[in-house]
Amino acid sequence: MATREQVLEAIAQVVQAGESAAESDAFIIRDVVVKELQVSLTVLSNNASVQSTLETALSAVLAPLGIDTIHARFRPLEERPEASQASVGNQTKQPDNAPGSTASEPVRGHGAGMEEHQLLHPDSGVQFIAVASGKGGVGKSTVTVNLAAALARKGKKVGIIDADIYGFSVPDMMGIEERPDILNDRVVPIRSHGVQVMSMGFFVEDNNPIVWRGPMLGKMLRNFFNEIAWDKLDYMLLDLPPGTGDIALDVHQMIPHSKEIIVTTPHATAAFVAARAGAMAIQTEHQIIGIVENMSYYTCGNCGEKDYIFGRGGGGRLAEALHADLLAQIPLGTPDNHPSEPDFSPSIFKENTPIGQLYIELAEQVIARCDSESAET
Ligand SMILES: Nc1ncnc2c1ncn2[C@@H]1O[C@H](COP(=O)(O)OP(=O)(O)OP(=O)(O)O)[C@@H](O)[C@H]1O
Ligand SMILES: [Mg+2]
Repeated sequence: MATREQVLEAIAQVVQAGESAAESDAFIIRDVVVKELQVSLTVLSNNASVQSTLETALSAVLAPLGIDTIHARFRPLEERPEASQASVGNQTKQPDNAPGSTASEPVRGHGAGMEEHQLLHPDSGVQFIAVASGKGGVGKSTVTVNLAAALARKGKKVGIIDADIYGFSVPDMMGIEERPDILNDRVVPIRSHGVQVMSMGFFVEDNNPIVWRGPMLGKMLRNFFNEIAWDKLDYMLLDLPPGTGDIALDVHQMIPHSKEIIVTTPHATAAFVAARAGAMAIQTEHQIIGIVENMSYYTCGNCGEKDYIFGRGGGGRLAEALHADLLAQIPLGTPDNHPSEPDFSPSIFKENTPIGQLYIELAEQVIARCDSESAET
């Protein structure tokens, strides 16, 4: 199997060959991720015709290494983040002689730029957990904010990145009304329920819709690492938008060592759709910590019996299909919180409630799994 170094060297050949090309054909290659026989990368160029030439050139140099799939995303060069902002999770060290190997070196015209933010480095000690599902509305954001609060209640230092850039909901769910301060040119995350939070929602006035082209989304996500004054962190949860679109791919590329929790409802169809996110995690070798089945049942207030109104078994089947464990089954319910309470949140369950306890148990499982893995490495 090809090593990352071999792949980078092969890509460097393509880059070198392109160095004599005209200015208008300039390109940058970054975000190179090597997973078994697959390579994914991002090409920045202002010339659309570079695409087919580069694809041919890349497969010519990578095929002899046994790479059978190249996933190249093409984006305009003008959207290139500044060198200090560009980042990619590169688990394997780049060869010292590879172009663009330092954060300050411009990578324009000769690619494989591998800058990374300290937080994203696999040795940063921060456990990244993306909360994903192929399906919308299953409770990803609800699970994210409650798991984050539960981890904080267990004494962990926790951050949330609301990676649902268009459909942000974390600030509302946590009851955050203030806007972040700027300190030394960096945005300071809002602290709520013991959790550091960053969301696009903090920068949007009056809930105006955000209309951005795809590349801006990835850029914004990068800024959420680079431009933010994160305090020390043990866990960083990423609330992903539904599906397996650009943002999910950005997260996979930017943080290859991120782990995942897949959320589903008990309905068979929901589990089937949620599985797509799981399949993507497997394909990109993101470790799936486990499955959370949300809206599992309704507990009758009078008789205490469980009513499985959305069906049964979706979480279990999904866990089986993804060779993962079903970590929690969260019932239907809303927190009994009142706006007059200090630190009011419409979505976070108090610790001393039955659902609050389920999230504490979920947090304990997450901690145990992440700890045992760090102990192994
Ligand atoms: N266990 C639950 N019981 C009752 N309501 C719930 C539960 N979980 C989530 N909800 C509600 O369902 C709606 C969707 O939840 P949420 O926003 O967390 O889902 P999502 O998967 O993040 O959605 P999207 O795909 O739009 O990001 C919200 O109104 C939330 O309050
Ligand atoms: Mg959501």
